[in-house]
Amino acid sequence: MSLRIGIPREVFPGEKRVATVPDVVAKLIKLGFSVGVESGAGDAANFADDTYRAAGAEVVQGAAALWAGSDIVFKVRPPSADEVALMREGGMLIGFVWPAQNPELMQQLAAKRATVLAIDALPRQLSRAQKMDALTSMAGVSGYRAVVEAANAFGRFFNGQVTAAGKIPPAKVFIAGAGVAGLAAIGTAANLGAIVRANDTRAEVADQVVSLGGEFVKVDYEEEGSGGGGYAKVMSEGFQAAQRRMYAEQAKDCDIIITTALIPGKPAPKLITAEMVQTMRPGSVIVDMAAEQGGNCELTEPGQAVVKHGVTIIGYTDLASRLAKQSSTLYSNNLLRLTEELCKTKDGQVDVNFDDQAIRGLTVIKGGEVTWPAPPIQMPAAPAKPKAVVAAPASKGHGHGASEPMSAKSLAIVFGIGAVLFALVGLYAPASFLSHFTVFVLACFVGYMVVWNVTPALHTPLMSVTNAISSIIAIGALVQVAPPLTASGAADRPNTLILVLAVLALVLTAVNMFGGFAVTRRMLAMFRK
Ligand code: NAI
Repeated sequence: MSLRIGIPREVFPGEKRVATVPDVVAKLIKLGFSVGVESGAGDAANFADDTYRAAGAEVVQGAAALWAGSDIVFKVRPPSADEVALMREGGMLIGFVWPAQNPELMQQLAAKRATVLAIDALPRQLSRAQKMDALTSMAGVSGYRAVVEAANAFGRFFNGQVTAAGKIPPAKVFIAGAGVAGLAAIGTAANLGAIVRANDTRAEVADQVVSLGGEFVKVDYEEEGSGGGGYAKVMSEGFQAAQRRMYAEQAKDCDIIITTALIPGKPAPKLITAEMVQTMRPGSVIVDMAAEQGGNCELTEPGQAVVKHGVTIIGYTDLASRLAKQSSTLYSNNLLRLTEELCKTKDGQVDVNFDDQAIRGLTVIKGGEVTWPAPPIQMPAAPAKPKAVVAAPASKGHGHGASEPMSAKSLAIVFGIGAVLFALVGLYAPASFLSHFTVFVLACFVGYMVVWNVTPALHTPLMSVTNAISSIIAIGALVQVAPPLTASGAADRPNTLILVLAVLALVLTAVNMFGGFAVTRRMLAMFRK
């Protein structure tokens, strides 16, 4: 018997998202599950009951019937106590749970002998986990919405204009914290035409800020801000004082500040003080995305938009829900990817496999037994930074070190061995072989140098352009097939079969060549602004 997935209507006040959209229902059914949806579950996100029915779901009246009839429940917000009471004994729940913040809920779920997969507990450092990373998809939507909220409260255009009625300067937007939400906000504000500046304690994000059209503003203080795993650490007093000075200057100069600074498990750092707010121009806007964790601004009121000292301070904690259709679609795609991992056999059954690190990390309760927190994941050493490479001894069998430059000693050894082998070949091989071999070795060397000096992100376009170029070489081969002209200027007519094959090869080569260039152009366009 295949299992049944249930999608209840979210009960948290104001929550508009739904855990599964109709498109995903159809894909879950293809995986072998049957799907029940509570009537009205998708209404607030513009997915009517009929669209679920059309996708193959059964629309169920009322939460009680939905929960009682479902083996697995997909949710967005953590379930309320009433919802847990409706849950089937030994059932399964997938959604946001926040086990650290909700110990009581964890107990209630364990008492139900439930199996609970908390999407917020996903080990995000695993590259395999990216497709299931709902925190990232929600933060991206929220960063976009933060800019839209700011634009709504701000009394001017974002872009500069010169009109007959006068010159309008572009708005200046400052983004504090360039993580997922911050980067989404930078891209959105820059696309609207604002001048965008951003700051983060992790200096490594500077390039990403610039690539999205922002300017990275450094704090005038030397301190490494990375706490590992892509997260920040709490900074020293000296750094914080220097950062406050810089933020105070930005507050005076900027029209809009969007704060997203967060260190997981810590209260939000207070970056914008009441005095800074006072120095902002009237009509300015602050969107404090960290409101739920206490706020990055001292004057933020979580969940509210308030005006203080003439500045609108927005502390909404439901930014993703304010773009419900978009966020529900992304969220349900994340859940679908997770379901695919749980049901590799595509037979409507799930296997909570603890040998899989991603599944292990997500599973906070298994059959009533609390399995949270999961043991930490041993990640392979990150590619060392140039500074560290000099100090680190060259390690053997370091599979991830391909991009590290070799030490001078090992380079000399490799070259020495190469030279000896080459000399041996030169001594014994025929002359014609030697000339081709030299070209081959040089081609390998040039190829190696070219590929290894290209940023990994550009390797795919590089491959497609190489593909196209290799086709040109194939055309050269075709020319070889054509017979040379005789002394009288006449050419021998080639055999018809060879001619047909040559034309066919030419057509295929042309597809490969022009296709290769076209694909390269499209890929490179993704990196251009
Ligand atoms: P993230 O962890 O990807 O980004 C946070 C960034 O802040 C990191 O780049 C970190 O280096 C930086 N940071 C930490 N301390 C800093 C400091 N003292 N100064 C400057 N930068 C600092 O987190 P993500 O996913 O981008 O979320 C950002 C915030 O937005 C979180 O507080 C999250 O809870 C909140 N959020 C709010 C939503 C809402 O509806 N209001 C919805 C989604 C996320």
